[in-house]
Amino acid sequence: MTPTTTGATATDIEFHYDVGNDFYALWLDETLSYSAALWDGIEDDGSQPDVLAQAQRAKLRHHLDQSALPPGGRLLDVGCGWGGLLALACEVGRAGAATGLTLSRAQLAHVHSLQLPGVQARLEDWRSHVPESPYDAIVSIEAFEAFAGPGLTPAERVRTYADFFSACHSWLVPGGTLSLQTIAFDAGVDADGPVGAFFASDVFPASALPRLAEITAACDAHFSVTAIKSEPRDYIRTLRAWSARLRAERDHAQQAVGADTYQRYRLYLKACEVLFLRGEVTLYRVSMRRRTGPLRLPV
Ligand SMILES: C[S@@+](CC[C@H](N)C(=O)[O-])C[C@H]1O[C@@H](n2cnc3c(N)ncnc32)[C@H](O)[C@@H]1O
Repeated sequence: MTPTTTGATATDIEFHYDVGNDFYALWLDETLSYSAALWDGIEDDGSQPDVLAQAQRAKLRHHLDQSALPPGGRLLDVGCGWGGLLALACEVGRAGAATGLTLSRAQLAHVHSLQLPGVQARLEDWRSHVPESPYDAIVSIEAFEAFAGPGLTPAERVRTYADFFSACHSWLVPGGTLSLQTIAFDAGVDADGPVGAFFASDVFPASALPRLAEITAACDAHFSVTAIKSEPRDYIRTLRAWSARLRAERDHAQQAVGADTYQRYRLYLKACEVLFLRGEVTLYRVSMRRRTGPLRLPV
């Protein structure tokens, strides 16, 4: 396995995301959110499409609330997927202008097809992003996992993540916010073991999960953490809802992507559920506020 500090490239991302928008539409909810939903107060098991969509919208609203966007504010979504957050930001009028970055051409085409007013979607790595003017808030939902590749030392991962936080700091107005959602390994788990290898080769190439200590070490110079929650149950419920919906759409899914890819997705969703159930991975939602200037931390 070749260590990579750059994480997933456009080719790696397309391996996973460009299997087809029609395929994902079969088992994701109507917002096409491809990340853990927020199930607080939702009792249903998620097998009904509208309940999953309700929980996904609650997740999107959480991130918009944490953004504390001023009226007409400027929002950046790093890893915008199929545009669910951008659409909601427009719908509720929180954002005056919103920019979304993705590395997937299929996702970009979908966001363009939504014709969202005030929204600019770009096929662009965050490493190349140059804002037209500063943002009031940044949201990044489950893209962080693709920012550093497998095989790195913890120190190398921290340096890679620190580049991301430094870039976000430079793009935000003073006092601007960053709302981050990411899956992470719990301490003590061998990130480069067989499960990590399955995900890196068959599911999300050139991606690797962070650990909480790495996130906080990497962000500390540029952001203060204002809230953090670990919500593994949210992912278990989301994964169960996705698995049930994919299983129910087996024939259509196999027509769309073939039997092998269908089976690979069934396996990966189940494997994820087991990792969350065993407590080997968890889901973090982290709210941050931009520090005025970078802190000089003791080395
Ligand atoms: C799991 S999807 C999540 C999408 C969306 N945030 C959601 O919750 O549905 C990860 C997203 O991150 C994007 N991504 C990964 N690495 C990226 C990078 N270096 N620069 C920009 N986008 C990236 C992918 O293209 C994809 O849109």
